[in-house]
Amino acid sequence: MGSNFIRYILKKHPDWQVVNLDKLTYAGNLENLKEVSRNKNYQFVKGDIAEAEDVAKVIGEGVDKIINYAAETHVDRSIMAPDAFIKTDIFGTYTLLEAAKKYNVAQYIQISTDEVFGSIKKGFFDESSPFRPNSPYSASKAGADLLCRAYFKTYNLPIIVTHACNVFGLNQYPEKLIPLFITNLLEGKKVPVYGEGQQTREWIFTEDHCRAIAMIMEKGQSGEVYNIGTGFEKTNLETTKFILREMGSGEEMIEYVKDRPAHDERYAINSQKLRGLGWQPSVSWEEGLRRTISWYKENRNWWQPLKSGAYLEYYKKQYGK
Ligand code: TYD
Repeated sequence: MGSNFIRYILKKHPDWQVVNLDKLTYAGNLENLKEVSRNKNYQFVKGDIAEAEDVAKVIGEGVDKIINYAAETHVDRSIMAPDAFIKTDIFGTYTLLEAAKKYNVAQYIQISTDEVFGSIKKGFFDESSPFRPNSPYSASKAGADLLCRAYFKTYNLPIIVTHACNVFGLNQYPEKLIPLFITNLLEGKKVPVYGEGQQTREWIFTEDHCRAIAMIMEKGQSGEVYNIGTGFEKTNLETTKFILREMGSGEEMIEYVKDRPAHDERYAINSQKLRGLGWQPSVSWEEGLRRTISWYKENRNWWQPLKSGAYLEYYKKQYGK
């Protein structure tokens, strides 16, 4: 998500200077930003948001806006090993907030998720719904979001928190449902649907998420929270079958596997507040998926090396992937 936003914002505001502070963990990849690497208004700094010294090196140089995209985000990994989530998502946010306070930044935007609200059977979560996270990942993001709230209330820092629905698109590490299923099919492998595939998710194409953040940077109010949703709500089986059809594969490629523990049944948010600022999605779920499938087809060299590695052994054991 971060690399998509950097490419987007440098195009939208060619005169802005963007510093990308990234620890380059497994999901970070400088390849994603090759096309802007020579842009004189773009600078990459390798560092950890949970290390005050790394953060000071960047923020202390006169940064006026912080957009915190840095996070551990994959639910299954958080079930396997929550520690990195607590360190990066909570302690990392704390470190950034402290820097925002020390260096008087003009705006801080927290990129977060609708998963902090937990699961909802009917209706929609709005910005004031209570936090009821169910995974170590969503609990870490909820903790970070609450710190943001507290830093606004206590220190009056110019902080905005955003909760987005499930983001998909180009350059997404092939572990989340959409890129995992597309790349599995390109490799001739089956796609592992958890349980019966009846859980529903609301989906947003990355580009629309980038537009939403740019809009919030421009028109959002400090201390406010904005949900970023599209209304494109699908069961996992609907998403799976659409991908299968688009890729010319049959339903025999579905493998129903053991369900995720504490699997949230449904995420759905009300995003009227953001729409009030003038934003609406411009890429349909179908078009977004078609663009994503084409990108993975054309960029095998990017994702193929990522599909081997020790942690996949764990997944194989857990879910038969
Ligand atoms: P995911 O992409 O991991 O996002 P999140 O858990 O943050 O919503 O998963 C999306 C949905 O797809 C979720 O209900 C879990 C399900 N899923 C599968 O059925 N199989 C898989 O291999 C993965 C990764 C997810």
